[in-house]
Amino acid sequence: MKPIKIGWIGLGVMGSVHVEQLLKLEGVSIAAVCDRDADRVKEWGDKLRIAPSARYTDFESMIQSSDIDAVLAVTPNDSHYEIVRLCLIHGKTLMTEKPFTRTYEEAEKLLELSEAYPDSACMVGFSYRYVPSFRMSREMIKEGKLGPVRHVFIQYLQEWGGPLMNIPMNWRWDPAVTGTGVLADLGSHILDSARFLIGEPTEITGMMSSFINKRKDAASGDMVDVDIDDFASFTAVLEGGIPAVCHTSRNAFGCGNKLEVSVYGDYGALHMGCEFGETLVWVHQNENGDKVTEKIQVPERYKLKQMEDFADLVRGDVREETPRLLDGYLNQRALEAVERSFREKRAITVGEI
Ligand SMILES: NC(=O)c1ccc[n+]([C@@H]2O[C@H](COP(=O)([O-])OP(=O)(O)OC[C@H]3O[C@@H](n4cnc5c(N)ncnc54)[C@H](O)[C@@H]3O)[C@@H](O)[C@H]2O)c1
Repeated sequence: MKPIKIGWIGLGVMGSVHVEQLLKLEGVSIAAVCDRDADRVKEWGDKLRIAPSARYTDFESMIQSSDIDAVLAVTPNDSHYEIVRLCLIHGKTLMTEKPFTRTYEEAEKLLELSEAYPDSACMVGFSYRYVPSFRMSREMIKEGKLGPVRHVFIQYLQEWGGPLMNIPMNWRWDPAVTGTGVLADLGSHILDSARFLIGEPTEITGMMSSFINKRKDAASGDMVDVDIDDFASFTAVLEGGIPAVCHTSRNAFGCGNKLEVSVYGDYGALHMGCEFGETLVWVHQNENGDKVTEKIQVPERYKLKQMEDFADLVRGDVREETPRLLDGYLNQRALEAVERSFREKRAITVGEI
């Protein structure tokens, strides 16, 4: 298997999760590290035995380096645009995190730029495409196991933003860094699940709400103002006129990481969730006409890991289901539709954006 050398930018929580997975793969190594926090560069540089010349605090120099084949970028949203732009220009295959960009305008510019660099490959971190039950559902829906799909429900709930958690102010609540709040963070996964399982949203009506308007600054201990969405809900009309009802919150006490999807068709329903990703619940009728609720243990062939998909992409092996730059763009456009709908108090046809 062709050896591949990855340059890792953003040595934080999610980055270390991806790197742990990458290092389990045959022929994959981390050849360079980058973070704007020099202490993290030292910590991870030492841990991964990276040569001093391959430790960076500035991502542009790393992306230009000929010592790496590809880039894994796991930085906050305000740097996604520039990292993708440089990787396109310098021909580095990249996995960048969701949301694709901080704003729709950035996504539009990247889509335009990508047309000038058709050989550059960019994958976007829509992780839930790799939940086995989601992959199996996609196939069952395509094969018509539910008959015509009539409606969809998706919720993504976490609790860490709630007052009882008492988490100090961080970049996830700062619009200058993140764009929108929970909408960009978790709503992007909802929209990707809808697109992955069913199809493109064509019309969206959105609502956003802010619950907590002051948070403690970790350094000074002072309370600082916060103005960002803690909750977002939207209805979307998906390809084929299928309605989807969706909501998301980081203030849902009792919910760890609850992304759940239900798809209802004329002849059956599917229920899946990332917290029970290897089980798919299929409600349907058996040969005797009885209603059965089957708990399917998802077979091995649906268990592709996100980082395996990335390594394959770096080696030039592209799968249809791999979330690519266009998926990032379309996701960002749908996020923009939710926000614009809330601002303008009307349904937004996604094509008008
Ligand atoms: N796919 C998923 O399910 C998933 C889950 C969690 C986070 N994410 C995404 O991953 C990204 C990072 O999230 P996280 O939780 O790891 O954040 P984090 O705060 O734990 O880590 C971010 C790291 O990036 C570094 N950084 C910030 N700006 C930088 C810059 N300009 N240049 C170099 N380094 C920089 C920070 O110093 C920090 O080490 C976000 O976009 C987030 O939305 C995705």
